[in-house]
Amino acid sequence: KPYVVGMDIGGTNTVFGIVDSRGTVLASDSIKTHQFEKVEDYVDAVCERMRPLLEQFGGSDKIKGMGVGAPNGNYYSGTIEFAPNLPWKGIIPLAAMFEERLGIPTALTNDANAAAIGEMTYGAARGMKDFIMITLGTGVGSGIVINGQLVYGHDGFAGELGHVIVDKEGRICGCGRKGCLETYCSATGVARTAREFLVARSEPSLLRNVPAEEIQSKDVYDAAVKGDKLAQDIFEFTGDILGRALANFIAFSSPEAIILFGGLAKSGDYIMKPIQKAMEDNVLNIFKGKTKILLSQLKDADAAVLGASALGWEVKEN
Ligand code: BGC
Ligand code: NA
Ligand code: ZN
Repeated sequence: KPYVVGMDIGGTNTVFGIVDSRGTVLASDSIKTHQFEKVEDYVDAVCERMRPLLEQFGGSDKIKGMGVGAPNGNYYSGTIEFAPNLPWKGIIPLAAMFEERLGIPTALTNDANAAAIGEMTYGAARGMKDFIMITLGTGVGSGIVINGQLVYGHDGFAGELGHVIVDKEGRICGCGRKGCLETYCSATGVARTAREFLVARSEPSLLRNVPAEEIQSKDVYDAAVKGDKLAQDIFEFTGDILGRALANFIAFSSPEAIILFGGLAKSGDYIMKPIQKAMEDNVLNIFKGKTKILLSQLKDADAAVLGASALGWEVKEN
């Protein structure tokens, strides 16, 4: 069978595509994730959208398997469980639901794990045996690769590094606890910092032209580029927290590189310099100067689809 399907379920969009064995995304489409209150309606709508794509390539008979990346995805069970940034609560057997409707064997994993697989297969981690993928989006996710293998752990959830606690009295997190890394270093965390800084400080800032509730990390970047000190300080603050967290992650698995993915990672030196500095200042002596921070080489929308699709080749047929 010549093709696989890759799908990325994001807090905002669900993107899926048909991919060939060379890792070319031949066709793709997307749908808004949050418009469906019931997960059954969501899965139905995604499948309906996917059918014309499948037909174009000879139907599901031509598909070896489908790989899905999703927040709080569990590779062992094909379920998503208590995802803070998705509308459906509880434990949901998403892989089985898709498989039943499309007749395509389906594997599901955490979205950041899928990104790690993509990076290992097609991107910056080609040939690397030990690395950590960090995704900076609506949440913060990670995929940990040790000795060439993605680490799933005992329960299938290894690598929830976005929920490492960096401040015990810190911000409330979608997971129900306080002070998680993702409340500071996700795109939404940066927007939260912007709102805090704007209240705490009185200096002029371009960010004051944006209604506080609408501020996005992209606005902070645009302002930083124009020389806005407050915006630059927001990245400084964010990078400092992330860099220190990375120093801790290095102690855990001694990676060759840490790969950053997501819009925030593209904020250039405004964020990269403080990340690098905090990481080097705080890392254990034996690791100093050893770990590279790299940017993902996978391009935007395709990346997630590609990463997930790589899993499609490994799915066992029933
Ligand atoms: C979830 C992770 C996910 C990350 C990025 C976090 O809130 O707990 O499973 O990988 O967001 O979507
Ligand atoms: Na993960
Ligand atoms: Zn959390």
